Order: sequence, then structure tokens, then C-alpha cells
Amino acid sequence: MPFAEDRSSEAEKGGPVTQKDIVRYLLEHDRSVVTSLFARADRVRSRFVGSGVHLRGLIEFSNYCCQDCLYCGLRRSNRRVKRYRMLYAQIFDVCRQAKALGIKTIVLQSGEDRRYRVRDLCGLVTDIKKLGLAVTLSIGELSYAQYRQLRLAGADRYLLRFETSDPKLYASLRPGRTLAQRLRCLSWLHKLGYETGSGMMTGLPGQTAGSIADDICLFGKLDLDMIGIGPFIPHPHTPLAKARPGSLELVLKAIALTRIMTSDTNIPATTAAGTIDPRGREKALRCGANVLMPNMTPPPYRRLYEIYPDKVCINEGEFSRGAYLARMIRRIGRTISSDYGYRKGDR
Ligand code: 5AD
Ligand code: SF4
Repeated sequence: MPFAEDRSSEAEKGGPVTQKDIVRYLLEHDRSVVTSLFARADRVRSRFVGSGVHLRGLIEFSNYCCQDCLYCGLRRSNRRVKRYRMLYAQIFDVCRQAKALGIKTIVLQSGEDRRYRVRDLCGLVTDIKKLGLAVTLSIGELSYAQYRQLRLAGADRYLLRFETSDPKLYASLRPGRTLAQRLRCLSWLHKLGYETGSGMMTGLPGQTAGSIADDICLFGKLDLDMIGIGPFIPHPHTPLAKARPGSLELVLKAIALTRIMTSDTNIPATTAAGTIDPRGREKALRCGANVLMPNMTPPPYRRLYEIYPDKVCINEGEFSRGAYLARMIRRIGRTISSDYGYRKGDR
């Protein structure tokens, strides 16, 4: 396979890779070809975003959700979940702790919980910004006006995975929703000046290598700043309980190809990758990823935010967690980034 071995090719520099090449890599079993693909992605990462690993402190502040995604443990039909909502003061307290730990970005994530008023969330965002932290939101599909209000309140970034670029598969997994609506939200976020993140799951039932290759090509077209890719992990209390989980190999290939395709994006080594393999996050950092998202959700709530079972962060001790991740970063010869980690430089 020429593109894995030829260091002077377009792919070495990052940049466009064809859909057909991507499919071939996703289906490739030859170890030496896969190893050289990962090495190439690591070189592209090193050249375009350097050796720093950005830490984004994740606060899962509510596990209520009005959506019913077939793959997700928090879907509204799952009556077994004990639901919680954190209070503003609690959320703000965690932000202060994150700041004290040297974390520069807070990610506020929740299910689609309509109970929080956007006006109040705006107040929270503004207060967190006053701490000198960058704020990323990951709270689902809202109206243009709501995204605008939050942006004006100071939110810097927004994560909204498109999950799969196959419109039929999308509609079957997210009842009542369409891929077109999702992509419209992403275009609004872009237009409003958010650093925009999207992403997908690998190994979804019904997904093909061709469809993952389409996802990766779509990443290239959308001019995204952040791209989260994780394996699908079946949750026992969902309709997909009996489905097979995505493999680590597939998610690592998708991360590597995404790095080569998009060059300078911020790509997390996802918690889901760490959940299916104890070294999953470390391996992801070595084949293209450059971001880690330590879970800062207070322990009583953390295990209730069960999108999928046995999340790796559940048993990471509250204060050893930073140290554990710091050791991982050192062990692989990387550093913890000390800047805010905007894609186009700090602003
Ligand atoms: N396995 C892995 N990832 C999942 N997500 C939702 N359910 C699962 C699952 N069962 C991912 C989706 C969502 C993100 C917050 O979590 O991609 O966007
Ligand atoms: Fe809700 Fe997100 Fe889970 Fe879908 S994936 S049910 S929108 S929390």
C-alpha cells in the first residue's frame, strides 16, 4: 500500500485521503501496514499539533435526556436510570477545583435536558469564563437563537457528534431525528464562531467500512476543530443490548485516518476507547489523538452518567486521576499542554 510507506506523499503532510483508500485501511489486517499507518498518523500529529496533550475537564451535570437514541443508556425510555441534576453552585465548585488543578478548559455535558433555562446556563458560562477557563458545551440540539445566546455569554466551543454520516442508519438509531437537522446545527455553531467539534461511533450495528470512510471524509469537509471518535459499547438496558461492541483496532484506525485527513484538529483519546481496553487511551494518543478528558463529575453522580457500562473513569480516584493521566502522558514521552488549546492558536 503506497500511502503507508511513501513518506513524501500528500497523506504524510496530512490532507485529503480518498474514500477508497480509507476503506482499504479500515479492512486491512496486515500488521505491518496497520503499524505504519499508525506511525504515519503519529508523525502528522507531531508535526501539526506538537507533543502537548490538552486536558479538558468533563462535568456531566445532568443525566436527564428527552431523546431516545437506541445505543445510549441515558435514553428517555430507560426507566432504570436514577436521574440527577447538579445545581449551579455544585457545577461552579467543580470548575474552581479544575482551575486549581491547572486545567484550562471545562466541558459542560448533559443529556438533552430541557429543564435548565438557557438564560441560566448563560449566567453559569459567564461566571466560569471569569475564572479564566475556556468553556465547551455539549448539551445537544438547540435552536439557532439559543446557540447564539450561549455564544454571546462567552461559550468558546461546542461538541455535537453526528454519530454516523449514513442518513438511514442515523434515523434508525435516533428516533424522530434526522442527520440533516444535526448537520444544520453544526453549520449554525460554525457560523456563530464556536470552535466546533463533532464525531462518531465506530462499530455501530449496521455500520460498514464504507460508511465509516464517509464519516471521515465528512470530517474533512466540515472544517471541524475537534473530532471525537469512540467505539460503540452496548448498554444492557437498551434495544442494542445484544449487539457486538466496536473493536479497539477499528477505532484506532479511524482516529489515525482522521488525523491524516484533517492534520491540525484536536482529537481526544476517548473514555470509550479506554473502556474497551485498559491501554486504549494511550494507544489512541500514539496514533493521532492529542486530547484527554479527565472526568471531573463528582463521584456520586459519575456512575449515574452511564451512557455505556463500566466507563473507565468510574474507578479512577478523585485526586489520583490527574496524576494517573499525567503519568500516562509522561510514559509515552509527551507533555501536558499549558495553553488553552484552541485549534487556531490561543485567542
Ligand atoms: N457506546 C459508546 N458511545 C456512546 N455514546 C452514546 N452511547 C454510546 C454507547 N453505547 C456516545 C455518542 C454521544 C456521546 C456523548 O457518547 O457518540 O454523542
Ligand atoms: Fe440523550 Fe445523548 Fe444519550 Fe442520545 S446519546 S439519549 S441525546 S444523552
